[in-house]
Amino acid sequence: MKAIQIVSESGPDSALELVELPEPEPSHMLTPGAGVVIDVHAAGVSFPEVLQTRGEYQLKPPLPFVPGSEVSGVVRSAPSEARVNAGDRVAAFCGLGGFAETAVAPEFFTFALAPALDFAQGAGLILNYHTAYFALVLRGRLKEGETVLVQGGAGGVGTAALQVAKGLGARTIAVVSNDAKQRVAAQAGADDVVLLNDDWKDEVRALSGGGVDVVLDPVGGDRFTDSLRSLREGGRLIVVGFTGGSIPQVKVNRLLLGNTEVVGAGWGAYVMGKPDLNREVGAAVNRMVDERVIRPIVGARFPLERAGEALHAIDERRATGKVVLDVRSG
Ligand SMILES: NC(=O)c1ccc[n+]([C@@H]2O[C@H](COP(=O)([O-])OP(=O)(O)OC[C@H]3O[C@@H](n4cnc5c(N)ncnc54)[C@H](OP(=O)(O)O)[C@@H]3O)[C@@H](O)[C@H]2O)c1
Repeated sequence: MKAIQIVSESGPDSALELVELPEPEPSHMLTPGAGVVIDVHAAGVSFPEVLQTRGEYQLKPPLPFVPGSEVSGVVRSAPSEARVNAGDRVAAFCGLGGFAETAVAPEFFTFALAPALDFAQGAGLILNYHTAYFALVLRGRLKEGETVLVQGGAGGVGTAALQVAKGLGARTIAVVSNDAKQRVAAQAGADDVVLLNDDWKDEVRALSGGGVDVVLDPVGGDRFTDSLRSLREGGRLIVVGFTGGSIPQVKVNRLLLGNTEVVGAGWGAYVMGKPDLNREVGAAVNRMVDERVIRPIVGARFPLERAGEALHAIDERRATGKVVLDVRSG
């Protein structure tokens, strides 16, 4: 099979190689001896793969390895107890190995792909939407009628969070860095979109009548303190990622003064050993697909062999929605 490997830790320009590899065994590292084998049609590209080309991600497999945490495609074979069968269209979280014509995922991370979604949308379904649902519902305790501020609202996690929050009956405000991203966040369903400038916090406070109930933050960096200041009493700031480059520090007196909380949301580590929870989140996400609330926004698409360009788009802050590699046509 054709696959993209990371062969060095020299960055997206030189770390990737298109190679020919033997087909994988029907076994996944999380479920040794068992796994769903998938003919990959599309592979999702995300921030961690950029970091992996520099050796900067927490998960560091020995070189060379095939990156790619999520795919969509058609099941070639599945363990007998699996809820999917050969021939089914699926979206799956494989962790690694997705940038390839064949990938293997654990049964509990493989979900039927609704007919309403194409394969490119399927490749953007699990990491972002499961994270958004986990972060907003299980960590942020978002309730119907509350207001959510989503940082990086045109990004992969951002667009997903906007849709999931709407599906939960919340009002949404996105913060984005330019006009093109403003249009993407609006397309994702944001009720209001605020441009990242010196006044963004004041605009958010005005739009929300004094402060939001929840901030979902995949960016971190300099804007973190203003995100905290955007919360109303009892508000929760959910920490999801650090694309802004720096890990913010919290002066905890701010939490005391505002009666607010900072909550961590690390989806992968939390759900890894909890198959029932995965199924529950998968069912909730698929329900929102059926209700037309969730429609993954696919930004740039590249053929497998141009994976480096996909990583560049993310690295240079140009990506919107989900960046996807087309592995098979159709
Ligand atoms: N906690 C979890 O379980 C979990 C799960 C999935 C992903 N994540 C993390 O969430 C973060 C976002 O992932 P994503 O897929 O949504 O990424 P993405 O699509 O690239 O979006 C990230 C957003 O961050 C903003 N940003 C600010 N400074 C940036 C910079 N220097 N470079 C790139 N982007 C910058 C950009 O928005 P503006 O230009 O509008 O500011 C961009 O749209 C990543 O750190 C990822 O590892 C965490």
